[in-house]
Amino acid sequence: MGRLSGKRVIITGAAAGIGRAAARRFAAEGARLALVDLRADEGEALVRELRSSGAEALFFRTDVGDPAAMEAAVSSAAQAFGGLDVLYNNAGGATRADGRVTDIDLEEFWRAVRVDLFGTFLGCRFAIPYMQRSGGGSIINTASIRALVGTAGADAYTAAKGGVVALTRALALQWAPAKIRVNAVAPGVVLTERVRALLREDDPIRRKTPLGPGEPEDIAELAVFLASDESRFLTGAILPADGGASAV
Ligand SMILES: NC(=O)c1ccc[n+]([C@@H]2O[C@H](COP(=O)([O-])OP(=O)(O)OC[C@H]3O[C@@H](n4cnc5c(N)ncnc54)[C@H](O)[C@@H]3O)[C@@H](O)[C@H]2O)c1
Repeated sequence: MGRLSGKRVIITGAAAGIGRAAARRFAAEGARLALVDLRADEGEALVRELRSSGAEALFFRTDVGDPAAMEAAVSSAAQAFGGLDVLYNNAGGATRADGRVTDIDLEEFWRAVRVDLFGTFLGCRFAIPYMQRSGGGSIINTASIRALVGTAGADAYTAAKGGVVALTRALALQWAPAKIRVNAVAPGVVLTERVRALLREDDPIRRKTPLGPGEPEDIAELAVFLASDESRFLTGAILPADGGASAV
């Protein structure tokens, strides 16, 4: 029996990086998966890979910041599975366009807030009613070390992830009576393709990470735990997975 055997799961941003690593780990633990991403080719390829190893997987080409599209993806997934147990809001990430509050193009602020914060908000909005009907569930949001300690240089993204932390705690209180747990992972430097391309060797967070940078699988392991019943007493927790960087 897998640790997620039979769990009906949505993962957003699943076509690359941490989301793809999580999809593979969740599938190996027996989850039934609905994967959401903008990148159709990579998403469909991942679904074929997971199915060939015996897993149940669906792909929805969906923009997490589009309310109608997210509602459609969540309801299609829940109908296909006959309910919903886990939502992993992972889509997001800083871009090169981010920087100092005094310099960045204002559109970058709204892009970051729309994907990282509003996308998370929308996922919760549409998934919670299905989880209520299933008698409970687990929501995993994605914050960042930038929301836990002061870090310079990505001010739009940092603001959006701060919102994810506050939202996670608020929803944890609101939905505990319905047995819906809401937690967040707060990664530090994780070497996905996007981050490898963005990050300088002398990046201050990277340099101050006691264990050195992490791999996508390091976050996927924590997500498996949060999705599983092993974490049944955790809600409202913001869990750093940063190689010790936030402890420095
Ligand atoms: N990698 C790190 O060092 C790091 C650190 C802290 C937090 N995080 C967070 O972890 C999450 C995953 O990061 P990653 O490094 O794996 O990123 P990534 O770029 O490798 O993967 C992100 C995936 O999200 C998808 N996506 C982006 N915008 C979307 C949208 N509007 N709708 C649907 N899908 C969308 C992309 O197509 C991509 O497949 C992000 O929320 C990021 O902020 C990552």
